[in-house]
Amino acid sequence: MTSFWSGYITLLTLGSLVALLWLIFATRRGERPGPTDQTMGHAFDGIEEYDNPLPKWWFMLFLGTIVFAVGYLVLYPGLGNWKGVLPGYEDGWTQVAQWQREIDKANQQYGPIYAKYAAMPVEDVAKDEYAVKMGGRLFASNCSVCHGSDAKGAYGFPNLTDRHWRWGGSPAEIKQTISAGRHGMMPAQAPMIGDDGVRNAAAFVLVELAGRKLPEGVSADIEAGRKVFSSTCFACHGAAGKGTPSMGAPDLTNPSAFIYGSSYAQLQQTIRYGRNGNMPAQLPFVGSEDKVHLLAAYVYSLSHDERSAAVEQ
Ligand code: HEC
Ligand code: HEC
Repeated sequence: MTSFWSGYITLLTLGSLVALLWLIFATRRGERPGPTDQTMGHAFDGIEEYDNPLPKWWFMLFLGTIVFAVGYLVLYPGLGNWKGVLPGYEDGWTQVAQWQREIDKANQQYGPIYAKYAAMPVEDVAKDEYAVKMGGRLFASNCSVCHGSDAKGAYGFPNLTDRHWRWGGSPAEIKQTISAGRHGMMPAQAPMIGDDGVRNAAAFVLVELAGRKLPEGVSADIEAGRKVFSSTCFACHGAAGKGTPSMGAPDLTNPSAFIYGSSYAQLQQTIRYGRNGNMPAQLPFVGSEDKVHLLAAYVYSLSHDERSAAVEQ
């Protein structure tokens, strides 16, 4: 704050206090031995107001608030650039400074714990109950907006509790996903393969790869779809449709893990217009590599504890 604004605020604040003090004394009526019969001279609906002084305790309360205000302004930063006489407010009393102080305190407290886990392999951290709890809390505040509080995902957001990975499920791959984000990009296929190509390829994916049935009354040329797949789609999804983690092209033989739906209509939509799933890099939000490590362990634990293993098998 420039000294002009500092002076301006100081003057305004102290001026207000003095003005208030004056107001209290100026409007105070003299002490009287007892209640008076004298009225203020106005009446409303037959009710008149007596001209009695403020009760003394009330008057003292007013004075008390002003004394409190002065004490407060001496102790804490409130007057322009004045830092207050209490220690700890050298950088002012802004919410940013307060937040920074709390972060510093938390880092001091938890830093060594994060560092301890950061030195352990993700697989081991994932077995540590306390670490998984901490990771779960980080997940709740950073990731659940998109992946859901149970990490089971939603339309457009992958389920992190199963063992089907778009970008790979090794600890290193999960860490990379969290730190730097991921951008799955499938271009619209209709311009290349035409409308019939879209319908046939969708039917091929649905029936031959995903193992489901075409809806009633739909006829499509699955063999033509197979040709489209092996001339176009295979480049990203692989010849057997098992996906390519390095580019986020998903395994098309696991319809339960499709994030854009597995109905015939939804498959056509995906193939016709393409998809553009984007997870922003999380390191800037999470704050440190050590926390990313803990988050990776949490995500890893979701598909590697006994409960989910039992469901998977
Ligand atoms: C250039 C690479 C590329 C080509 C070619 C390609 N895909 Fe994809 N495909 C992807 C990527 C990457 C994704 C994931 C997009 C995302 O996450 O938003 C994807 C997603 C999909 C999905 C959605 C799966 C889900 O989770 O809902 C289907 C279905 C699909 N592709 C089928 C096809 C078919 C059929 C073809 C051929 C006609 C094809 N793809 C061609 C890269 C490709
Ligand atoms: C803004 C929404 C958003 C946030 C926040 C977000 N994610 Fe994601 N995440 C996505 C999307 C979308 C994808 C899928 C990208 C794609 O289409 O390939 C994804 C993919 C992933 C994957 C890869 C899944 C796979 O199958 O390979 C992991 C792991 C993951 N997220 C973990 C996290 C963690 C941990 C956090 C919190 C630190 C987080 N995400 C925060 C949107 C988000």
